[in-house]
Amino acid sequence: MKHILLLFLTTLISFSAAAKEGMWLPLLIEQYNIGEMQANGFKLSAEDIYSVNQASMKDGVVKFGGGCSGVVVSDAGLVFTNHHCGFKYIQRHSTVEHDYLTDGFWAMNRKEELPNPGLTVTFLKEMRDVTNDVLKGVTDNMTISQRNNIIQINSDTLINRAIKGNHYKADVNAFFEGNQYFLFIYEVYTDVRLVGAPPSSVGGFGGNTDNWMWPRHGGDFSVFRIYADASNNPKDYSDDNVPYKPAHSFPVSLKGVHENDFTMVFGYPGTTEEYKTSYHLKMLHDMLYPRLIEIRDRKLEVINYHMNLDQGRRIKYADKEASLSNSWKRWRGEINGLDRFDVISKKEAFEKDFQNWADNKEAYKNILDQYKKLYGRYTQLNTDANVSRELFEKNSMECFSKADAIQKIVQRAQMAKSRASNDEFAEFYKDYDITVDRDLTKRLLTYLFAYSNQNIVPETLKSVYKKKKGDIEKVTDYLYRHSLIDDTLWIAAYNKGNDKVIKSLEKDPFLISYKEYNSIYNDNLMPQVRKIKASIDSLDRIYMKAIMAYEPDKIFFPDANSTMRVSYGKVIGYDPKDGVHYKYYTTSEGILQKDDPEIYDYNVPDKLRQLLNKADFGQYGENGSLHIDFVATNHTTGGNSGSPVFNANGELIGLNFDRAWDGVMSDLYYNPKICRNITVDIRYILFIIDKFAAAGYLLDEMKIIR
Ligand code: ARG
Ligand code: ASP
Repeated sequence: MKHILLLFLTTLISFSAAAKEGMWLPLLIEQYNIGEMQANGFKLSAEDIYSVNQASMKDGVVKFGGGCSGVVVSDAGLVFTNHHCGFKYIQRHSTVEHDYLTDGFWAMNRKEELPNPGLTVTFLKEMRDVTNDVLKGVTDNMTISQRNNIIQINSDTLINRAIKGNHYKADVNAFFEGNQYFLFIYEVYTDVRLVGAPPSSVGGFGGNTDNWMWPRHGGDFSVFRIYADASNNPKDYSDDNVPYKPAHSFPVSLKGVHENDFTMVFGYPGTTEEYKTSYHLKMLHDMLYPRLIEIRDRKLEVINYHMNLDQGRRIKYADKEASLSNSWKRWRGEINGLDRFDVISKKEAFEKDFQNWADNKEAYKNILDQYKKLYGRYTQLNTDANVSRELFEKNSMECFSKADAIQKIVQRAQMAKSRASNDEFAEFYKDYDITVDRDLTKRLLTYLFAYSNQNIVPETLKSVYKKKKGDIEKVTDYLYRHSLIDDTLWIAAYNKGNDKVIKSLEKDPFLISYKEYNSIYNDNLMPQVRKIKASIDSLDRIYMKAIMAYEPDKIFFPDANSTMRVSYGKVIGYDPKDGVHYKYYTTSEGILQKDDPEIYDYNVPDKLRQLLNKADFGQYGENGSLHIDFVATNHTTGGNSGSPVFNANGELIGLNFDRAWDGVMSDLYYNPKICRNITVDIRYILFIIDKFAAAGYLLDEMKIIR
């Protein structure tokens, strides 16, 4: 019995230790994490992760484009990232004849790789704690704006010094709400070519249905290559550029992933809010998320209705639908998670204890009261601002913003004393369908006119609404009848001459309302929001400092802020609800089970179906099955997509691409019982490259660990 208890206790301890929340700074691993990482199986040193003296792991981990991560897997600059991260570029190269989104794309030699102007891959050269330099001259009794000015000036000085006489870029970022500052020096490569991508039916298998869900069967990867000049420095696309030689590239392990294995995710997580107060969570949970979800319910209902009705509309709205539903689903998951784990009550209990401690501390005793006052106003204002933007932008009723864009095109042409080309308009209307937009307008105007704060309604809309006695059908008809937004009307009018169109545009109710919306949003709502937000930010800094003093033995990790981070944990399944256990991995069986040519999200390509049925997995299989995705306890967030997932030896075992729905509240509150990141197994990636795409030549340049 004693033994069993001991065993139970040690498993409990090692579980909680390995299921460690946090996104840690590579530079500080040595100080805070390496002991625990090694105790949980990690075989390398902190110097192997981050070093400025020798090549280290950080030299093979990249920021991919603006919002994703990636990893270098060969000495010739080959990079893996997610399919949804490469999506935009794959789409840009796609035409009706070469539909790479549908069919996939594979360069069969380097000459066939496709350039992507605008796409960058960023390496971190160095990071440095610059807190003292940034805060030089800052005193406690300054106003918020005085303080921010000094910080700005000091940061600029540091940045300029860092990039003087070299081709690097630099940034200074605030950590712990502005209690600490780091300087980051980057090298940015601008010739990044597309090497390969599976069809969307592999890369995005499961589509929006499976998005944020486990069990999952996505092959969410794409392949790029970085090119450099002859001295290995960044250079824009050029014929004589050569493959980039990285300081470190990662070996790829075919040894497989097993329950309780140590895992480490390395990448660029975007934003988390782990230290916010209960007031902030109540704003999100009670007001902001519910309103945004309501609006998106309506958008998605209309768009999905039309997408199912008509193939043309499906293509036009696919992207908009994906981006609308991605956050919509996550917000709902976050609310569920906050409810299920009573997070707000937990925060309140913490705040009560904190208050007892702070009661006799002059600097801290009023913080929570001040928060209460500020959020009393901020919650409504911030929600109003977000609702207003959600209604008039963000893949919403496009008639408003399009009317504005049309005017800009015409004005630009007029200024250049020329005429806008038909191509410009064609591009403009490419993903627009007036029937869909009209339905959206009806649904969303109904929402707008019922919204609790009618001050966000543009005057013009108010007066049409009054004139039509609140009949939305009639309001919508009126607006469209008096507008040129319909592309056929608009182009005919334009062909009659600039002046006429400009006159009609000036009277366009969509354009006028859009300008009114803009002025409500930019001149009224946002200045108020920003003002309170500045006070909250300033309070956040003091509160962060206070809670660090309140829990002096706790090791805090800084919230994500799009800087490079390491998170570590272990591979393990979870129990989504009573009586249900989820395994840590999925196999190709699941792809065949989901397979349904009638359902867009589950349409398995013929060739893949054949390969999977044959079950010839070769070196990529494990006991006769092919593993597809797996889950682990690494603390990740948006921006971690494409992040490499490493085993204890620092070998690549997969690419992170999502989180499981039950635990997406991890941006606000991490719980090792339920929070899981989802990774595509590297063996499935190599299987697709080799057996499905017949691009196995790419494996020759990788270092494969068998
Ligand atoms: N949920 C993942 C993330 O936040 C994947 C999103 C892309 N996939 C999609 N079906 N929308 O980025
Ligand atoms: N899917 C997200 C991304 O694109 C990752 C996440 O939120 O877990 O970065």
